[in-house]
Amino acid sequence: MAFDSFRDFISQLEQAGELKRISRPVATELEITELANREMKSAQGGKALLFEQPTVNGAVSPFPLAINTMGSWKRMAMSMGASSVDEAAAELGGLIKARPPASFREAIRLLSTALDLRHARPKIVKDGPCKEVVLKFEQNPVPRTESWPKAPNVADRSTFEPQPSTLLNLPIQKCWPLDGGRFLTLPCVLTKDPDTGERNVGMYRMQIYDGRTAGMHWQLQKVGARHGRRYYESGTRMPVAVFLGGDPVFAFCATAPLPDGLDEFLLAGYLRKKSVPLVKCETNDLEVPANADFVIEGYVDPREPLREEGSFGDHTGYYTLPEPYPVFHITAITHRKDAVYPATIVGIPPMEDFYIGSASVKLFLPVFKMNFPEIVDMALPAEGVFHNLVFVSIRKTYPMQAYKIMHGLWGMGQMMFTKYIVVVDEDVDVHNTSDVLFRLCANTDPQRDSIFTRGPADVLDHATTEMAIGSKLGIDATRKMPGEGFKRPWPPLIVMDEAVRKRVDGTV
Ligand SMILES: Cc1cc2nc3c(=O)[nH]c(=O)nc-3n(C[C@H](O)[C@H](O)[C@H](O)COP(=O)(O)O)c2cc1C
Repeated sequence: MAFDSFRDFISQLEQAGELKRISRPVATELEITELANREMKSAQGGKALLFEQPTVNGAVSPFPLAINTMGSWKRMAMSMGASSVDEAAAELGGLIKARPPASFREAIRLLSTALDLRHARPKIVKDGPCKEVVLKFEQNPVPRTESWPKAPNVADRSTFEPQPSTLLNLPIQKCWPLDGGRFLTLPCVLTKDPDTGERNVGMYRMQIYDGRTAGMHWQLQKVGARHGRRYYESGTRMPVAVFLGGDPVFAFCATAPLPDGLDEFLLAGYLRKKSVPLVKCETNDLEVPANADFVIEGYVDPREPLREEGSFGDHTGYYTLPEPYPVFHITAITHRKDAVYPATIVGIPPMEDFYIGSASVKLFLPVFKMNFPEIVDMALPAEGVFHNLVFVSIRKTYPMQAYKIMHGLWGMGQMMFTKYIVVVDEDVDVHNTSDVLFRLCANTDPQRDSIFTRGPADVLDHATTEMAIGSKLGIDATRKMPGEGFKRPWPPLIVMDEAVRKRVDGTV
């Protein structure tokens, strides 16, 4: 299902009983975090929150702020237009496995799948709601200021006539006490490879320096940074477009670890079963979703020195300390008249990002299985904040197979960041951390069953000796085979007879 706007998604959430409205003014400085964090820490991710009157320095912003909109399995599925994330994953898995039809019935099924796929390709349109309000800074300069001016206080939104926005009246949060400033937390950052023209959309947070500039936090190994390096090599200005809102599936696709060169809008079009309409920006040649809520256009200038970004209370549960990143200069802001500002917070898990990351794992499990058919299931437990810890179950048929999987995973895209991989047998539920820990403790001889290696690390990892370089530990917690240096008989797991269980249950 395709959403026409972020507001459309919000109203679907409300109808499904997944949204709480907060109509009193709440400060974007820390207070929204406190309320959202309580929600994210409650059972099954709590509810999405719509702050109708977020305040910026005490003045009500013209735009409401929605947060935790993907922070549960149900809301994550809704944002993907599916009834469950598993259903979306099974559909995609079916496509990957698609073979030539063996019967008419199968041919019809494949045809409908192919039609769905046709919807995937984005199409260019002339105009869109994201341009209902246009502010070009060249024509209408905003004074550059380091201090945050007071926005006009808007007590009654119904009588408020939306004005062209500057960044400074968006309800951009200061999330945590030691944050270096305000940050866009759900921006979809669009860039193009100058050599191939291939587009990339990545989610990289952005620190607001003033009304016209922001930090561009694309990390070393991300596609936006790779595009950036090419512009730095040639010394030419790099066009960048940032969009927020629109169909919520865009935000998910921006976070998904797609291979470099695979268009995020193809995945978005496939998931929403409708191609993504794209409209050209006002001040550069990039194309953004016509139904986005906000578009922030601009550029990065390679001749300009990097600027410190941070600190920022991060996914890791710790603050990421200031580091130099490129400066994004804003040339235009366009937005819907009734735009809703989408936001999230990251911090000590579990947070909303657990569901976003886990949805990616579920969706791309078929791709992992295609490469490694012995993989049964995979989980990235919330405590591991994405990259730190991966549990994987395999159907083991030969000695040292667990090690093949560890090395294979460390070599696959963003799995390179994984610090700890624990491989278990197929009968272990990797989504049950307690079950995995039981097998880990019971089935391993620590020295024999573990391997250390080195590789690229997440730049956010504060524990590595040097940034972006680290060691990795793989643990083989599968049942051992004779070829693995294990010379004793392997004992059976204690399991009650099925007949006895049924008798006691009273089912026979
Ligand atoms: C809420 C959220 C915030 C994120 N912030 C950043 C960030 O600031 N910098 C970054 O490099 N990756 C960040 N990520 C992870 C990237 O979005 C993710 O690695 C994505 O696959 C990158 O896309 P790319 O491979 O096209 O570069 C964030 C993810 C989420 C869910």
